[in-house]
Amino acid sequence: MCSIIGCIANSDVSEPIVEGLKKMEYRGYDSVGVATNSDSNILLKKGIGRVNAVNLDLKLDSMPGHVGVGHTRWATHGQVNKINAHPHLCSDNSIAVVHNGIIENYSELRKNLERNGVIFKSETDTEVIPNLLGSYMKETGNLKKTLMKTVSRLSGQYSFISLFEDGSLVAARFHEPLIMGIGEKEYFISSDVLGFIEKTNQVIYLNNEEFVIIDDKGYRIYDFNGNPVEHEIVTISKQNNNVNKNGYRHFTRKEIFEQPSTIPNTVNNPNNNWKKFAEIIQNSSKVYFTGSGTSYNVALVAKYLFPMYTTISPEAIMSSEMAYSKDRLQENSLLIAISQSGESADVLEAAAIAKEKGLKVISVVNSKASSLERVSEASLGLYCGAEIGVAATKSFTSQLSVFYKIIELISKQHIIFDAEKVSNLILETLDSESTIINLAKEMKNSTDVYILGRGIHYPIAKEGALKIKELSYIHAEGFPTGELKHGPLALMDESSYVIAINPEDNTYQNNLSNIQEVKARGGKIIGISNKDHEVYDHWIKIPNVESNILYPIIETIPFQLLAYHMSLEKGEDPDYPRNLAKCVTVK
Ligand code: BG6
Repeated sequence: MCSIIGCIANSDVSEPIVEGLKKMEYRGYDSVGVATNSDSNILLKKGIGRVNAVNLDLKLDSMPGHVGVGHTRWATHGQVNKINAHPHLCSDNSIAVVHNGIIENYSELRKNLERNGVIFKSETDTEVIPNLLGSYMKETGNLKKTLMKTVSRLSGQYSFISLFEDGSLVAARFHEPLIMGIGEKEYFISSDVLGFIEKTNQVIYLNNEEFVIIDDKGYRIYDFNGNPVEHEIVTISKQNNNVNKNGYRHFTRKEIFEQPSTIPNTVNNPNNNWKKFAEIIQNSSKVYFTGSGTSYNVALVAKYLFPMYTTISPEAIMSSEMAYSKDRLQENSLLIAISQSGESADVLEAAAIAKEKGLKVISVVNSKASSLERVSEASLGLYCGAEIGVAATKSFTSQLSVFYKIIELISKQHIIFDAEKVSNLILETLDSESTIINLAKEMKNSTDVYILGRGIHYPIAKEGALKIKELSYIHAEGFPTGELKHGPLALMDESSYVIAINPEDNTYQNNLSNIQEVKARGGKIIGISNKDHEVYDHWIKIPNVESNILYPIIETIPFQLLAYHMSLEKGEDPDYPRNLAKCVTVK
């Protein structure tokens, strides 16, 4: 998934475009490129790597021109190299295009265009777009007709912005997010409000199957059939879209240390209609959760939590597996979709499948006005602020807090989720950072890390493994502790690091017996617990909690810190781990 941005103003636009790309870099960081129109000439610069480095080398932010486009890439089609970097030009260089998403029928379109003499330079799916635009512009001489003909040929999921030599900017949305920013003296179009939030918080969210033409006469929005569409300009919060590191070296560490305040922000936020959300769940015959990555691990925790305090026994279905699990969906039941970004293509597809099957869809998102929120009948926001670190941290604990709060309501306070108390427990847990830094130094060259947890701790074992994989690139796996002896124990030897999630609750004793079995095979044991034990080679202390059910939130923190410090120990960038992106808008 990539970030795309366009800007038209009565001054040079390359600087605000590059600033916007820096803010959206978490969407993709394989390559960067900018194109501007200066005196009806399209200027183009692109390079491999991160925005700051390429800008330093190519001076992207001092390209002349009052209209331009920019892109950061997360490669889907074609290697990470300069030719495949965006923007892409049509064969006569009169149109430049930046694209996010996938053109599924690109090879057939490419063959047709090659038969008409078009010579392609790159391996990308994207390059068919400027060449289609070019051929229809020659045919019609009209921008609107050109767009309508072009989008009628494309299939897949995409948003693109095209820069024409006459100085017009044209953008189209088909499933991928696209938002306009209405400034005093300029217009922006971008895949994320972060691209222009420092310039304006007056926005228009383009709906699916719409395109916009922006030129010195202003902007005009149409649906794909060419009908004009009126849109309301919405004022969005600048505070919730603040993307500064506030003195931290990395966004990831900042977001880990924000959790003592983000959790109260989530559960005390007045904009959330908790009562309505809880009622919808209570009135449903069957409840399903879905999500991807870290959000799926929240669904797994919720699957354990609900039956413990309510009569609701939900199922959790991984979003990317929904297409093959739809026969499990009961009609007239409820799907709760969980997504930090609200833009993950797998989650959006899972919601669409559920709707097709006659389910009601509600959601929990961090990005308000995201595609998922807009297809949901009800939605709760995390209000934990923008999350930039690619590995989800604060959004995870805020998502968990949402379900603790909902269960508190549904169970008529059978459990009380005291956010202030949890906030203090996390503060206490963050104090174990120095122990974790030493551990990271010791574990940085390990090849395999196994994480054990029983019951509700098993999903946290999976989340811990995910964090270590995402940030340190070391193979890590989360197991239900009891399963070890049925196979995975064969993996254990002196080189194995085993992290046991072992707070003093109903899983404690059984866990200890299994940990002893690992110890007997020479494995090095790290115990995450409120209580030390001689079987541990290393003990990561977490505070005692009155209500055991809160341990999943607390015991997550050491994994976030360990993964972060292992990444640093290995000289990697924890904010922008290789091959990943903050949310993946392609299936
Ligand atoms: C991945 C992110 O791309 O998507 C993960 O790297 C995230 O951190 C996953 O958990 C799901 O994203 P979302 O936005 O749907 O919760």
